[in-house]
Amino acid sequence: MSEDLQNIAKKIVNNGKGILAADESTNTIKKRFESINVESNEKTRSSYRDMLFSTPEISKYISGVILFEETFFQKNEDGESLKDKLQNIDCCPGIKIDQGLEEISKDSIETFTNGIETLNDRIKPFVENGAKFTKWRAVINIGENMPSADCIKKNSYLLSEYALISQNNGLVPIVEPEVIMEGSHSLDECYEVTKETLNRVFNDLKKKEINLKGMLLKPNMVVPGSKSGIDLNTKEIAEKTLKCLKETVPNEVTGIVFLSGGLSSLNATMILNEINKLNDAPWNLSFSYGRALQEDALKAWAGKNENKNKVQEIFLHRAKMNSLACNGKWETSLENE
Ligand code: G3H
Repeated sequence: MSEDLQNIAKKIVNNGKGILAADESTNTIKKRFESINVESNEKTRSSYRDMLFSTPEISKYISGVILFEETFFQKNEDGESLKDKLQNIDCCPGIKIDQGLEEISKDSIETFTNGIETLNDRIKPFVENGAKFTKWRAVINIGENMPSADCIKKNSYLLSEYALISQNNGLVPIVEPEVIMEGSHSLDECYEVTKETLNRVFNDLKKKEINLKGMLLKPNMVVPGSKSGIDLNTKEIAEKTLKCLKETVPNEVTGIVFLSGGLSSLNATMILNEINKLNDAPWNLSFSYGRALQEDALKAWAGKNENKNKVQEIFLHRAKMNSLACNGKWETSLENE
């Protein structure tokens, strides 16, 4: 089984491929659809995601898709399963298996991730129906008196428990400790908090003897806070991100798939490209983007299925640009292709 886990992890990050995070919860996708004045219901969610998954040639760049529970068992208008559609193009279906965030205490915005008690039972239907990997997201905020030691400790512990249950059920865990970009913190503060968090996470993963070759890490890039007023310097971000990862992530980990965390599509591609241009990391460095892969496509869709070709063209282009960035081969001129 451990061989299988490693092979799946490798397959996801090899050959310049990455992950589409299409696992927005019902609440989150509602907000995304509101931004283009589209009502979110089962039918619109299925049409939109079906359109993305049907993009011709998408499996050249996308090796896996993280699904929300509804999508995993959903069928399109023609009765085809969305998950089977991915399997048919050799794209690994994965499942967001956490149950969202809950406040640690009433007087703080810090959270822990719900769903560990029921995880071992909840994971079974996904194992039986062909899921290859799972995802669990923990959130760490930077701000006054944040993050607290308790927040990092609790979330790291839960991530390691989750990784163990996922591997015991034969699914590759995608361990996602997200240091949130929102805030007025500096690049160095993000670096310090990310480093502390990743150290703690890997400590806990090792304590539970997690097979590091059979997991993927989904971290944030080390960036200044979105309200800091500091301009993004992609080279500096790439260097700091790589430094932070080298100081914390064991070499055995098969791959690192970044989240985009609110970066624009272009910035997410440019930073990934800079990181891979430095080209001296022991792991494959790829993407697991939600917003940064979808925002242009979502706008082009505008809720109208007659825009399908345009949406798919835009989505394929973004996926291709990020795939090139996985090899440090992206260039500005390619954006106008
Ligand atoms: O958990 C977060 C998503 O999987 C990634 O979304 O790239 O928009 O941050 P994002």
